[in-house]
Amino acid sequence: MNADAPRPLVECRGLAKHYGEGEARVDALKAVDLDLWPGEVVGLLGPSGSGKTTLLNLIGCIVEPSAGTLHLDGETVWQGKWLRPDLRRLRLEKIGFIFQFHNLLPFLDVSENVALVLDMAGRPKAEALTRARELLDYLEVGHRRTAKPSSLSGGEAQRVAIARALANRPRIILADEPTAALDGERAGIVMDLLRKVAVEQSATVVVVTHDEKIWDRFDRIFALRDGRIVTQDTPRRRP
Ligand SMILES: Nc1ncnc2c1ncn2[C@@H]1O[C@H](COP(=O)(O)OP(=O)(O)OP(=O)(O)O)[C@@H](O)[C@H]1O
Ligand SMILES: [Mg+2]
Repeated sequence: MNADAPRPLVECRGLAKHYGEGEARVDALKAVDLDLWPGEVVGLLGPSGSGKTTLLNLIGCIVEPSAGTLHLDGETVWQGKWLRPDLRRLRLEKIGFIFQFHNLLPFLDVSENVALVLDMAGRPKAEALTRARELLDYLEVGHRRTAKPSSLSGGEAQRVAIARALANRPRIILADEPTAALDGERAGIVMDLLRKVAVEQSATVVVVTHDEKIWDRFDRIFALRDGRIVTQDTPRRRP
C-alpha cells in the first residue's frame, strides 16, 4: 500500500461486543465494518438499545471489543487483545469524548473541569485556562466559568462537557447526544463548532443523536439496529 495514501482515522473491521455469557449474553454490537475519515462529521442513529453507545465506547477504547479489529490513526489498537499498553495516554492524546451524562467533576469549577485534560497532558496551567476560556466563550457559557457543575442547568453542563472534550484538540471526537438538552440555536452553535474542529484539526466527529434539528449537519448518517449498521445515507448539507 502507498504509505502516502489517505487512510481513515477510524477503521472498524468485524468489530463486535457482547456482554455476559450463556443465558445472560447480550450481543450489543455484531460485526460492524466502518471507516471514518479526517474532516467528516458523521451521525449515528438507532433505537434505544441498538448499540450506539457501545460502538462509541469501543472506538474510544473505553470498553474492550469481543471480536474484530480496531485501527485508530493508522495503528492497530485492538485485535484479540489491546495492542497499546498505554490506553489512557492514547485516549488523552487522540480522543475527545462527550458522554450522554456529562461526567463533570463536582469538586472542580467549570474552568478547571475544562482545563483538567490539558493539565494531565502536561500543558502549562495558564495556557490550559486560556484555552478553557476560549472554548467556554464560544459555547456561550463563559459567564459560568467559576461555577461548580451542580449549579449549572442541563444545557450549560452539556456545553461545558463539550468544551472539555475539545480542549486537547483530539482528532477523534465521539459525542453521545451532545445537543439533547439544547435549544435549536445553541444546538446549531455546537454543530458549527464540531464542524470547525473537523476541518481545522482534520478530525473525525461521530455524533449519536435523535435530534432531527441537526440531521442536515452531517456528511454521512448511519443507522444501527440490533447491533448492526442497517443503513447509510448521505444527506445534502446546507450550503
Ligand atoms: N455494561 C453492560 N452490561 C450488559 N449489557 C449492556 C451493557 N451496556 C450495554 N448493554 C446492552 O447492550 C445493548 C446496547 O446498549 P447501548 O447502550 O449500546 O445502546 P444505545 O443504542 O446507546 O441505547 P440508548 O439510545 O438507550 O442510549 C443493550 O441491550 C444494553 O442493555
Ligand atoms: Mg446510548
